[in-house]
Order: sequence, then C-alpha cells, then structure tokens
Amino acid sequence: MIEIRAEEPEDIAAIRRAHQQAFHPSPNEACLVELLRQARKAPISLVALSEGQIVGHVLFSPIAIVPAPIRGLGLAPIGVLPAFQKQGIGSKLIEQGLRDCRRSGYDWVVVLGDPHFYSRFGFARARAYQLENEYDADEEFMVMELRTGALRGIKGMVKYRPEFNEAGC
Ligand SMILES: CC(C)(COP(=O)(O)OP(=O)(O)OC[C@H]1O[C@@H](n2cnc3c(N)ncnc32)[C@H](O)[C@@H]1OP(=O)(O)O)[C@@H](O)C(=O)NCCC(=O)NCCS
Repeated sequence: MIEIRAEEPEDIAAIRRAHQQAFHPSPNEACLVELLRQARKAPISLVALSEGQIVGHVLFSPIAIVPAPIRGLGLAPIGVLPAFQKQGIGSKLIEQGLRDCRRSGYDWVVVLGDPHFYSRFGFARARAYQLENEYDADEEFMVMELRTGALRGIKGMVKYRPEFNEAGC
C-alpha cells in the first residue's frame, strides 16, 4: 500500500536519500530540492511512503514564461528508490502532484523528460505551444494545461528557477 502526502519537516533527510539513490551517482537533484526548499520555491512537494518508509519524492517549482506574466510550475525532480521503481509509484506521485497544482490555482506545468512516460499524464510537446526552453530540448520538453486554453496566445521562453543552474549545495 503506497501513501502519497505532502512533505513534512521530518522528511528532509529521507527525501535527500531518495534522490541520491534514484539519480546515483549524481548528487545534483538532491541538492536542487534543498536549494528550492531554502528559497521557499517548493510550493508542491510530495512524498510516497511504503510501510512508513519514504520511497519517492516529487517537487514542483515556479516557472516563468518570458515575457508573459502567468502562473505555472515545473515538475522536477522526481525520484523513486531503485528497488521500488516500475511499480506505479512515480505515476502516483505525478497524478497527485498535478491534482494539487490544479487545486492550488496553477494554470500549467512543464517537464523535461521521457515523452513516452510523461505523455500518459497529458503532457505534450511544448514547442507545439510556441514555448521554447533554455536546454535546447525538443520532444523531451513538454507542457500540460491545467485549465483548457490557459496557454492560448502565450508564447516565449520558459525559465526555471535560478537554483536549477547552481552547481551544488
Ligand atoms: C522516472 C521514475 C521517477 C519513474 O518512477 P516509477 O515509480 O518507476 O514509475 P512508474 O512505475 O509509475 O512507471 C514506470 C515507467 O517509468 C518509465 N521511466 C520514465 N523515465 C524513466 C527513467 N529516467 N528511469 C527509469 N524509468 C523511467 C519507465 O520506462 C516505465 O515505463 P513503462 O510503464 O512503459 O514500463 C523512476 O524510474 C526514477 O526515479 N528514475 C531515476 C530518476 C529519474 O530519471 N527521474 C526522472 C527524470 S525526468
């Protein structure tokens, strides 16, 4: 039985470990979570628990589309402990996260990742919406409207928080 709930202060060390193991050997994703949390730019942060143990985590952080002043979030990072992958936990984190984003009044979410995986949640190629990215990604850079028409007439460069460009922590 997997429980998904919002991050709590006592989860911090287990969240760090989950990303260190999911993205091993890179420490960058674990650091990124801490930098965004310290900057208070982690409005939606969910953990997955199996028998009380944190086995996964997902974060959504604020995104800007330059020059359009609209509200959106970026899904990153998401990590599930290797021993718990391919059991639907990542999907549960994403589905609950998207529900929470919508409920909190955000209009759209972007993600950079595997199109085969993320398209199943409703993400589509961002360039089809005239949204560019700073990573020169094409099919891997995707967006999802949380409110139909939220991106109508919007185009520009999608910018993640500056913490995404920091070297480490
Ligand atoms: C990506 C990840 C969070 C998915 O979590 P999960 O609990 O395994 O996901 P689910 O069981 O719900 O779905 C499994 C699907 O994830 C897909 N997937 C997408 N990206 C993946 C990745 N980078 N590594 C492994 N599997 C990935 C698998 O191919 C699988 O697809 P399938 O159902 O067609 O076989 C997890 O595999 C992980 O932590 N990977 C390492 C960290 C990472 O790459 N994060 C994402 C960066 S965008």
